[in-house]
Amino acid sequence: MGQKKLIKFAAIKAYENVLEFPQDMQGKWTAFFEALKNGTTAIDISSLSIKESHVASSVSLQNNNDNASTKLILELACGRGEYAVGLGRIFPEQHFIGIDLKGNRIWKGASIANKDGLKNVAFVRSQIELTSNYFTKDEVDEIWITFPDPQLRWSKAKKRLTHPKFLRLYQQFLKKEGIVHLKTDSPLLYNFTLKVIELYGLDLIYKTDHLYTEQNIDPRCLIKTYYEGLDIAQSSKIHYIQFSIGKDMPLALDAILKEAIKDIPMDAGELIRMEAEAARAKKEA
Ligand SMILES: C[S@@+](CC[C@H](N)C(=O)[O-])C[C@H]1O[C@@H](n2cnc3c(N)ncnc32)[C@H](O)[C@@H]1O
Repeated sequence: MGQKKLIKFAAIKAYENVLEFPQDMQGKWTAFFEALKNGTTAIDISSLSIKESHVASSVSLQNNNDNASTKLILELACGRGEYAVGLGRIFPEQHFIGIDLKGNRIWKGASIANKDGLKNVAFVRSQIELTSNYFTKDEVDEIWITFPDPQLRWSKAKKRLTHPKFLRLYQQFLKKEGIVHLKTDSPLLYNFTLKVIELYGLDLIYKTDHLYTEQNIDPRCLIKTYYEGLDIAQSSKIHYIQFSIGKDMPLALDAILKEAIKDIPMDAGELIRMEAEAARAKKEA
């Protein structure tokens, strides 16, 4: 492994705003961000309190009126965390967590957040598949998925971060009215996600297959990520979907989905991407 990567891995171990595969964090994120804001000493997770509304026994006793409280927003497959950091600057009263497996990428966003004193931005190094270990029911308000690997091969569809397998995982901690945002340059992932929304009867809030030609763009969508800048598919067309997942997603529909997505075509940009990704994977191996 390169020297630069090793330095970054060591750096994030010492950062207060990065947790690696954290244990026992469910319900404690409000307390964590309070500690991050207040403290200069190391944060001791075992001393953090679980938010009242997340204590199982108190849920039924109190009117869970969380509407006015600080929101917790995740950026999944965050890479360098441009959305966690960018949204953290725009909304200083809300909390943002970027999640990615690659420590050297997280290092970038975490270093910027530290340098700029963004105490409402943190990172978790982990597989996304483990996220339900870190957040309790209704703890998360929104999820951004920014330029995830589209997993172009049909046989890899279950690895797409908007596959029902992943959406069911998010349902374990996303509020019922919580929103999922997908920003991608992959028409295949865009059309796949729309098919999932249609088949499972999820609520589509907004969609566009050419974001930057839209009038009145949501300013949050103007944040650009590293991979967006790479324009791997060479299409310059950014696709964006906003939807909610507060409905049951019956397992029985998965077999129908598997067949329905066979027909989603790949365009020339996707083929360019597939070659570029194969070359990148070979270089990284
Ligand atoms: C194409 S990059 C996009 C990064 C960033 N969102 C951007 O737009 O620049 C995809 C990212 O997803 C991460 N990733 C892919 N699968 C993952 C998984 N199962 N768990 C955690 N991270 C994952 C990779 O490490 C990588 O940083």
